[in-house]
Amino acid sequence: MSAKKTETVMDKIVSLCKRRGYVYPSSEIYGGLGSCWDYGPLGAELKRNVKTFWWDAMTNRRNDVEGIDASILMHPEVWKTSGHIDEFTDPLVDCKTCKGRFRADKLEECRCPKKPSKTPLECGGELTEARQFNLMFKTFMGPVEDASNTTYLRPETAQGIYVNFLNVKNSSRQKIPFGIAQIGKAFRNEITPGNFIFRTREFEQMEMQFFIHPDEDEKWFEYWREQRWAWYEALGIKMDKLRWHEHASDELAHYAKAAYDIEYEYPFGWQELEGVHNRTDFDLTRHMEATGKDMRYFDERFTEKFLPYIIETSAGCDRTLLTILVDGYDEVEVKGDKRVFLRLSPKVAPIKAAVFPLVKKDGMPEYAKKVYQELKKRFKVFYDEAGAVGRRYARMDEAGCPFCVTVDGQTLEDDTMTVRDRDSMEQTRMNTAELLALLDEKVNG
Ligand code: GAP
Repeated sequence: MSAKKTETVMDKIVSLCKRRGYVYPSSEIYGGLGSCWDYGPLGAELKRNVKTFWWDAMTNRRNDVEGIDASILMHPEVWKTSGHIDEFTDPLVDCKTCKGRFRADKLEECRCPKKPSKTPLECGGELTEARQFNLMFKTFMGPVEDASNTTYLRPETAQGIYVNFLNVKNSSRQKIPFGIAQIGKAFRNEITPGNFIFRTREFEQMEMQFFIHPDEDEKWFEYWREQRWAWYEALGIKMDKLRWHEHASDELAHYAKAAYDIEYEYPFGWQELEGVHNRTDFDLTRHMEATGKDMRYFDERFTEKFLPYIIETSAGCDRTLLTILVDGYDEVEVKGDKRVFLRLSPKVAPIKAAVFPLVKKDGMPEYAKKVYQELKKRFKVFYDEAGAVGRRYARMDEAGCPFCVTVDGQTLEDDTMTVRDRDSMEQTRMNTAELLALLDEKVNG
């Protein structure tokens, strides 16, 4: 795909997101704030659905993973122990000509502020030697702003899980192998954020840490790779747009023995969507050494105490949303007109069905409102009687709604309505009970 086409597809998605209430630039009336985005009514709903879909798969439908919700601000020593203070850095270069600052290992993705059509490699500016820049956001705890009160916004949710390993083990009485899952905000002062909600400075992670016997690390690593792959399939992502990328030894994070990324082919190229890591006993060892708390595990099945290894699955929530939006975006010629469809899976689509009276008379609006109220007890649905029915379909197709239900003259005679499937465009007549069963199967099945 050419650079021009790439920009065009992303521009269209950004503009659709704003138009339909998925994502707005943050603080827009003040001119926006670099790489910060706000989720609108449909975006907030989509995000909530994605998190529920993840939480259900990773905790509720299993009996070996517990969920927690740790605080964003943690004891600053946590970040010393985890290695983030010393090693959570990206290489930074300055341009002596325009004073721009760029991530040295991603120069081909950066734009020169003075010549935006060129990268810092092409614009002719002179770059400094690279130096390491720490990505953690700093703040102060309490009313005194000095070094002893420095604290950090967490750059990953994982550490909140490690420091609670003993608490969860003791209170839940889980036995190894078991996992702890968490969804929450993380913050990184990225040098080069961009590509809409792909790389931002404030984002949400959906992470799970699975504690195992060290001898079983390869088995569980494979198991979790399979589980995470299957999750994207269940989410309805086009599987030929996903691939695995194995980290070479020089790419591995400081804590990892092995790592695979699930990558998606975005309009701007193949990029990481989620990481599955074998973190060994790195984190628990470090926290045990720093605190003196015994993190070792023992139960009657094992002959000795051991420090569990950890298999981590780490997905970006916002990045999953972007993937769903890009994957579902489709333009189709309908009767000479270009029409946009957002082909979201009913499992996560913000609006599950829209109910229309064919015309605003003959008792059809009253009937349609009753159906709408009935569906609303169980699903997020939308009622619309404004304008031609074709226009109403088009609005819902663009908003990602999988089913449109139309009440017409026949409904008043036999209680059946036409139910139009957004993707097949097929229309089937059914009554309210059948419609509820269809939605239940498609949304919760
Ligand atoms: N605990 C391990 C960890 O944080 P990571 O590969 O740095 O690993 C995991 O991040 C996931 O978090 C990524 O695959 C991505 O989906 C998401 N992520 C990381 N940085 C992000 C950013 N700046 N903006 C949006 N999502 C990000």
